[in-house]
Amino acid sequence: MSDLNAVIATPVPMSIAIAGATGRVGAELIAGLAGEPVSLVALTRTPDAGKLPAAVAQRAVDFERPASLRAALRGVDRLFLAQGTSPRQVENEIALINAAVAAGVTHIVKLSALGVPVQLHPFDWHTRIEAHLAQCDIGYTVLRPSTFMSVLARAGKPVAQGHWGGAAGDGMVNLIDVRDVADVARIVLLERASTHWQRVLHLTGPRAWSMPQIAAELSRLLGRAVTYQHRTPAAQRDYLIASGMSDFVAGVAVGLDQAFAQSLLREDTSTVQLLTGHAPRHLSDWLSEHLATFKA
Ligand SMILES: NC(=O)c1ccc[n+]([C@@H]2O[C@H](COP(=O)([O-])OP(=O)(O)OC[C@H]3O[C@@H](n4cnc5c(N)ncnc54)[C@H](OP(=O)(O)O)[C@@H]3O)[C@@H](O)[C@H]2O)c1
Repeated sequence: MSDLNAVIATPVPMSIAIAGATGRVGAELIAGLAGEPVSLVALTRTPDAGKLPAAVAQRAVDFERPASLRAALRGVDRLFLAQGTSPRQVENEIALINAAVAAGVTHIVKLSALGVPVQLHPFDWHTRIEAHLAQCDIGYTVLRPSTFMSVLARAGKPVAQGHWGGAAGDGMVNLIDVRDVADVARIVLLERASTHWQRVLHLTGPRAWSMPQIAAELSRLLGRAVTYQHRTPAAQRDYLIASGMSDFVAGVAVGLDQAFAQSLLREDTSTVQLLTGHAPRHLSDWLSEHLATFKA
């Protein structure tokens, strides 16, 4: 009798699916949700490729194949939606949103970007995806984080070799640690309150920096002079392509520099503190943790 009561009293665990589970935010989110009493499903194009913890259930999903998406979302209550930057991002994310609505998902947490509605990729893509989501009969939370601190890893080799630079000028950007983005996503996905609200959250680190200020901070941490060389957008594009970057990625990187130059991502918010209860992680700490990247 007592066993039966226990079964009746135990709620069915909420099912949460993570699209982009192997990505920068997705991987941190999977780690953060692993110990929670939820049914967790990681969505990836390559299940069992060893990119995810073995204990986490995985389902194969390819946003390019819309017919496969609804089955992958069967029984899912809440969905975290992220895809890496891609020219197919709008079509792909809209296909997944439509599949989620059809599968009865009640709430989507969509990873967007601070800077929407700037008319540059990938911001304009997120604008279009957000507009589609707003028309759907589903609860959602759009997360608009500032640029991730981890993009600075791309500066590792140029810093080590003494030719770091770009087209960001003295513009300011409030970079965020992906672990803070994942912490917020985790809290939102686990919320027990209404799932029907539709809201947008801006997420930032604790303060804005210019690239020359980051160079000064790297100089302090490395114990040698680091400078940021100012280039025009065209010169930066040529530099990136000459260093092996594809046209597409170089275009996105230069677009990001232009957003930095105009201080479009310099906003200060208290969202991370309010939702997670901890202060957003500091850029100096991220640089210290990754100092080897700038010595290689
Ligand atoms: N980077 C930044 O500074 C920054 C800042 C703010 C917002 N954002 C936004 O955050 C999002 C994620 O960007 P990111 O660069 O951090 O991503 P990322 O780490 O490169 O992750 C890409 C993820 O997308 C999944 N994916 C890609 N194509 C897929 C497909 N066809 N079907 C299924 N899954 C697919 C990959 O899964 P599998 O390979 O396992 O299939 C992978 O988990 C982007 O929308 C970006 O605009 C980025």
